[in-house]
Amino acid sequence: MYLGIDLGTSSVKALLIDAQQAIIDSASAEVSLSRPHQGWSEQNPADWIAATEQALGALQRDHPAELAAVRGIGLSGHMHGATLLGEEDTVLRPCIMWNDVRSHAEAAALDADPRFRAVTGNIVFPGFTAPKLLWVKNNEHELFTKIRKVLLPKDYLRLWLTGEHMSEMSDSAGTSWLDTGARTWSAELLAATELGQEHMPSLVEGSAPGGALRAEIAARFGLTAGITVAGGAGDNAAAAIGMGTVQDGAAFASLGTSGVLFAANNAYLPNAESAVHAFCHALPNTWHQMGVILAATDSLNWYEKITGVDAAELTAALGEALQGPSGVIFLPYLGGERTPHNDASIRGVFAGIGHESDRDTLTRGVMEGVCFAFRDCLEALSDAGTTLERATAVGGGSRSAYWLQLMATVLGIPIEVPAEGDFGAAFGAARLGLMAAEGADPAAICTPPAVETVHEPVRDLEAAFGEAYRRYRALYPAIKGVMT
Ligand code: XUL
Repeated sequence: MYLGIDLGTSSVKALLIDAQQAIIDSASAEVSLSRPHQGWSEQNPADWIAATEQALGALQRDHPAELAAVRGIGLSGHMHGATLLGEEDTVLRPCIMWNDVRSHAEAAALDADPRFRAVTGNIVFPGFTAPKLLWVKNNEHELFTKIRKVLLPKDYLRLWLTGEHMSEMSDSAGTSWLDTGARTWSAELLAATELGQEHMPSLVEGSAPGGALRAEIAARFGLTAGITVAGGAGDNAAAAIGMGTVQDGAAFASLGTSGVLFAANNAYLPNAESAVHAFCHALPNTWHQMGVILAATDSLNWYEKITGVDAAELTAALGEALQGPSGVIFLPYLGGERTPHNDASIRGVFAGIGHESDRDTLTRGVMEGVCFAFRDCLEALSDAGTTLERATAVGGGSRSAYWLQLMATVLGIPIEVPAEGDFGAAFGAARLGLMAAEGADPAAICTPPAVETVHEPVRDLEAAFGEAYRRYRALYPAIKGVMT
């Protein structure tokens, strides 16, 4: 048996798999998030432990024999958060989360230092860890002087489980302190935020052992003392491990609240200029790229609120067969955009509406706009040397076959839908626990799920959508000056 623990933004999920990777069961417990000021987003590390205890307690109640047979544990979690520890690992303040933007000025200042993009391969986004530390230095200076360790959220859970200050490459690549190509902390970048290597956890690969379970925790949940806790992964890399997105060029398109186009790479291929995230993957000597858009299904949810019609009903009204471009252009920048613009202040727009534009036209416009934003991500990845031949669709939006046909046609690649199953980050974490405990071959473990449906591009409509995409591309520079 193997256990995956995923620290999500709204809940902790613990999932048990057996040696054949069949899911035995899972249990979740909620974690609350506080927004004490506009743009702030914080969580209490003590709440992560409480939720993990609750989830493990539920598994212990229902599956004591299976929990006793666990041989490896893997961790995954939301990325970029700053968990600040003082003497004797006391938590100095609530964790500043990935979706906290208070440090935008500090991020811009660090990003203006060319060493950051050169060494990390990424823009310094306000959500990343280093600018948060600069914010603490500038605004909570006394607290800053007490910092002894900076941990990423899932690595604080590891500290509780194992007593070790340890991290791994995929999550650490989102701090703005990692030399992403060399897979080591950059002393130079740490020094730029007045920190040193001594403030950082030691590093292992995600699929390698990263600590041993403390006897005290083992006794509480009927686990075995000393079993391996794997390095683990940031949540996107962990999901990729779960989906088998590990071979060079393998990709998934996640149509969730936000949208992610994720590609696995055998080489380190940064393209910070197009706001591509280039991070280490959770397996040795592999990396990955991500284009991230901020409003995917969130765009349709917004249109649902405007129309008062359920999103499923809006998409069902379009029928089965993909129609040509709607004629309206929608920029889905409802809360700014990451890839390709890195522009927090831009906002969305509908262009080209006429007397004939009805509800269905605008539904199509919204869905097309999201697909065009994914095409921007595809182009950004392609500029960085990655050519995708297909992608697997995941996330709530992938329930709409119309949307997936549209996505296939706009991206010009087949979009595959996996058979029913749980391929989330907790499953990927459990796979990492298995690999670390058994020294198993990643290629044998990280297999992709069975494909249920393949949506091929509709060739007759490709040229028309290509032209619509060109108009979409031209719109951002045209409105930029008007909006800000
Ligand atoms: C990745 C990112 C999110 C968080 C939260 O860059 O910001 O995916 O990991 O899930």
